[in-house]
Amino acid sequence: MPKHGKKSHEFFERAKKVIPFGVNSNFRYGGDDNTLVVADAKGGYVYDFDGKRYIDYRLGFGPVIMGHGDPIVNARVKEAIDHGLSFAATQLYEVTVAERIIDMVPGAEMVRLANTGSECTMHALRLARGHTGRDVILKFEGCYHGAHDYVLWSTASGDASQVGDRRHPRAYKQSIGIPDVMRDLVQLCPWNDTEVLGEILAKRGEEIAAIIVEPVLGNGAALMPDPGYFEFLREQADKYGIVLIFDEVKTGFRLAPGGAGEYFGVIPDISTFAKAMGNGYPIAAFAGKKEVMESVGPGKVFHGGTYTGNVVSTAAADATLEYIQSGQLFEKINRIGGMLMDGIGEILNEHSVPHFIHGTPGMFGITFGEEKPRDWRGLQKANWELYETIANHMIDNGVMPESDGFEPFFLCSSHTEADAAETLTAFEAGVKHALGK
Ligand SMILES: Cc1ncc(COP(=O)(O)O)c(C=O)c1O
Repeated sequence: MPKHGKKSHEFFERAKKVIPFGVNSNFRYGGDDNTLVVADAKGGYVYDFDGKRYIDYRLGFGPVIMGHGDPIVNARVKEAIDHGLSFAATQLYEVTVAERIIDMVPGAEMVRLANTGSECTMHALRLARGHTGRDVILKFEGCYHGAHDYVLWSTASGDASQVGDRRHPRAYKQSIGIPDVMRDLVQLCPWNDTEVLGEILAKRGEEIAAIIVEPVLGNGAALMPDPGYFEFLREQADKYGIVLIFDEVKTGFRLAPGGAGEYFGVIPDISTFAKAMGNGYPIAAFAGKKEVMESVGPGKVFHGGTYTGNVVSTAAADATLEYIQSGQLFEKINRIGGMLMDGIGEILNEHSVPHFIHGTPGMFGITFGEEKPRDWRGLQKANWELYETIANHMIDNGVMPESDGFEPFFLCSSHTEADAAETLTAFEAGVKHALGK
């Protein structure tokens, strides 16, 4: 991660005095002298307190799909906020956002809004439990679904020595403070493995309320599933009466305008969205089949919150989704992201570095090694030291992917061809540096 200049260092020291580790999310801490501090941001760039500019491929871990401080989104918010923010009543933008999601996302027939991805997966899982009358949920190793106790098990940063063998996966607790009894409610399974999933469901299928899955490993180098994997998930969920949830907090409105349902052609029962739908404003949604969504309501499954559907966030989402619907966003991120994916591949081939590039132009990852990883266990074998050396060298040169390669590169529609060219130059310099050339 970035090395602090004088002013950035002083600012971070000030932050650490009042905020544990100086960050408001553990994921953001990169070390006392290497944690990004941002004084300003515009379009595809962030600036630290010393005025150093970085081309930003972290984009707040994915939400900023149009660019920082986007004028179209901000104009919609400014227009809206003079007329009030929170009413404990239904307001215009809640309805326009729900209508847009239903237009864009195959299988989305009704929508409820929330503020964060974690909140949204929590609600979606309660809905699945309420709808089926079952308690256990099945999640996959390496998938992150947010900060709550239901799902903070065997995520991407899990300890590989603690997760049992592949056929008998053990849920690894990602935080102290999670009650042990919660483990009984979580069944783990390796991602992208039809055989083990089939075995688990043959034993426990009737107990399971929901299968929750990240359609692309958005917290694991953007690994893509094998062809037919989601068809298998759909078929198994139907066989056992399980609610299938695509957690699209990272992939939603990034993989395709209609998310993973459109991209892979398989329709889940519920999808969860957040990040890209608001270009950085805090908003989330869970959407799905009417028959399932109608289990939410007074006297049925609880969903609510003071700020759900607030004016600021829904106005931002209204403008962001409208722009995505116009087709301009995907034209841009596919072109620039495609240049990066191709260019990175060419550079690595030229330098004879064995590698794989995963994901799509809006969200892609790189792994180094001879063997193509297919899941979180496979990712453990990649050469992350090499990745980090290259990424840190790029960051020193003003181009900022996350230095932890589990986190993909994210593109926004403000990134330009010149940014892509600068990025490839920095990438090649990083490769040469890492290889001692
Ligand atoms: C796939 C996925 N689901 C859920 C979440 C949680 O979202 P939030 O951080 O908004 O609570 C994340 C966050 O990165 C995520 O990647």
